[in-house]
Order: sequence, then C-alpha cells, then structure tokens
Amino acid sequence: MAMSARPLLAALLLPALLLSAVSAADSKNNPADQLVALINSNRTAGKASSLSDNQGLGCIALQYIKAYQGQCSDVHDKKPPESSFTETFAPACGVQVATLSKITGRLVGCQSKYPSPPEAFNILVNDAKDLQVLHSKNHTEIGAAVSGTDGGGPYFWCILFSGGKPATSFKVDGEVPKTAMHPGCFSGNNDDCGGPTTNGAVATNAGASRLVAVLLFAIACAFAL
Ligand SMILES: *[C@@H]1O[C@H](CO)[C@@H](O)[C@H](O)[C@H]1NC(C)=O
Ligand SMILES: *[C@@H]1O[C@H](CO)[C@@H](O)[C@H](O)[C@H]1NC(C)=O
Repeated sequence: MAMSARPLLAALLLPALLLSAVSAADSKNNPADQLVALINSNRTAGKASSLSDNQGLGCIALQYIKAYQGQCSDVHDKKPPESSFTETFAPACGVQVATLSKITGRLVGCQSKYPSPPEAFNILVNDAKDLQVLHSKNHTEIGAAVSGTDGGGPYFWCILFSGGKPATSFKVDGEVPKTAMHPGCFSGNNDDCGGPTTNGAVATNAGASRLVAVLLFAIACAFAL
C-alpha cells in the first residue's frame, strides 16, 4: 500500500514544483511587481491593508503612461482625460468597460535615467501628500507599470489605486492583448518582463536556470521517496 503511493505522490509533487518555479521566476523579473511589493510592505508597516495586484489595472497603468507620449515634463500638471479609461485604456487591455472601478489615487513619475523599483518608490512618494495617497484606506487594489523597456528613456512609472472589488473589477477577457503589453512592464500578470536594464534573453535564462534547479530537486525528491 505505502509502496504504491510513493510514485503517485512524486507524480503529484512534480507538476506543482514546476509550476511554482515558473511563477516565482516571472514575478521576480518584473520591476512593476517589485514596486507593488514595496508599496504593500510600506502600507502594512503603517497599519494599512495590503492591496490586491490587479493585472487589468496594471495594464491600464501602462496605457496611462503611453498617453504621455514620452513628454516627461507633463506628468506634474497634466493628466489624460477621464474618458480615456473607457475609450482607449480599457479596450487596449481587453478590460471589460463595465468592470472599470473608481480610481482612488495615482502616483506618476518620470526621469531620463532608469530608476530601480526602490528608487522609483522614492521618486513617486516624496512628500506628505504622496504619502497620504500611498496610505489611503480608500484603496483595495493596485496596478503598477513602468515604460522605457525598449532601452530608451525617459522612464515613466505609474501607480493606479482603485477601491473596486479585486475579483470583479478591471476584468480581462481572455488574455491581455500583446499590443497592450510592450514596450514596458506592468504588475499582476506574471509577465516575464526584464525591465530596461536586462533584455528579454537574460530574464528568460534566469527563469530557465531556476526551472532546471527545481527540476533536479524534484527528481532528487522522487528518488528519496
Ligand atoms: C514608507 O515610505 C515613506 C516614504 O518614503 C517613509 O518615510 C517611511 O519610512 C516608509 N515606512 C516604512 C515602514 O518603511
Ligand atoms: C477617501 O474617499 C473620501 C470620499 O470619496 C474622500 O473624501 C477622502 O479624501 C479620501 N481619502 C483619501 C486619503 O484620499
């Protein structure tokens, strides 16, 4: 009885381990996901809730950046019109317009040199007003994006917060369209996005070597059983 259960256990464990290797590799290689992690740890340290990372909202944050058309100087006093959410951003991302929820806060920054996620955090949150936006209790979910992954600056970062229900807001039909994804990275969709300083090949290799390591570990486990 116990003997025959062992191969079965190994067969069940192996795909689970492989799957975890793949998703871990993805989020580690995405600067937008890293920024969301920094924001959530700052919020929870300040006794605010951790926010749900919504890929529909993340994709919209990237379209929000694209609306600036590379004009870095516009981020301080210009915003894309509200109608862009229904007319441009949602359709580009495959987000159902009926599931758009209220934006409860936004932080946008831009500079010519690429900032790493911790540097971006400091650029986006640099006064009391920004900190109030960051820690607001009105938010339930978040989407973050960074542009400039084609290797050229200026580099934009955008965080959108919403008070919608994470399971039912910014819902994506099927998959996010490829045209909405690059250049740039956004949070929440397991996109293996190396960011401006590492090209796609480097990011893929890192993911692949992690996969091989877990595969060897899984095989070792199967033998140990
Ligand atoms: C959260 O971020 C703000 C702004 O950068 C900083 O002043 C504060 O110390 C951070 N809190 C924690 C717990 O890291
Ligand atoms: C939260 O929402 C309320 C109602 O819309 C608004 O009055 C308040 O300023 C918001 N708080 C923050 C920190 O944005």
